[in-house]
Amino acid sequence: MREINPVFKKIDDTFTFQNYEFGSGFKELDEFLYKYASIFMKYGYSQMYILEELNKSNIIGYFTLSSSTIQWDDSLFLEKITRYIPGILLGMFAIDKRFRRKGFGSDLIKKAVSIALSVSKVIGCRCVFVDSLTNHETIKFYLNMGFDFVDKPLGRIILKKLSSNEKIDKNTIKMYFDLFKLKKK
Ligand SMILES: CC(C)(COP(=O)(O)OP(=O)(O)OC[C@H]1O[C@@H](n2cnc3c(N)ncnc32)[C@H](O)[C@@H]1OP(=O)(O)O)[C@@H](O)C(=O)NCCC(=O)NCCS
Repeated sequence: MREINPVFKKIDDTFTFQNYEFGSGFKELDEFLYKYASIFMKYGYSQMYILEELNKSNIIGYFTLSSSTIQWDDSLFLEKITRYIPGILLGMFAIDKRFRRKGFGSDLIKKAVSIALSVSKVIGCRCVFVDSLTNHETIKFYLNMGFDFVDKPLGRIILKKLSSNEKIDKNTIKMYFDLFKLKKK
């Protein structure tokens, strides 16, 4: 089997995506990379991180991070200090189809969580949030990585519909990873 040498790096708005191949199979995620990522970085809406294959013109995967606060009225957090929960939004995230199921997605999530954890030491930041696509592979992936549904009853409904192949009206569902799970260890 071909050996893959992944290199993780933070990029900026001067990065030339056109020199690289990337295809997630999701138009919005691919278009973001080639058309909008530089603009988002240039104007400070998100920062972007990529995993590239060493000495090849392949982007294995990428994610973006932005600051975010969500209003969470029935937050299950015990403290109940405020209904506004500060966090980091994992805005865009995908692994190229050629590199799936090899652990790269898990590696990138761990990097994103670790960046959020460092941020939380200097700026209030309790969770990593993501608007997960409501398909089986994406939800299973996030649950496997320790994420949970912000709206748990809705999450249960979506899981039930996925297991019985029913149509789901919503394209995304908000999920969170509580950074306190790591701090308590
Ligand atoms: C979801 C995604 C990021 C996963 O990346 P990946 O590199 O393939 O994931 P990993 O290899 O790290 O998989 C980790 C675990 O997630 C789960 N998982 C990943 N892909 C899965 C699939 N197709 N079906 C079921 N479970 C899956 C498994 O539990 C897997 O562990 P295992 O391989 O030991 O069984 C990737 O499939 C992807 O880019 N999908 C399209 C875009 C997308 O959904 N992005 C997220 C938008 S919010």
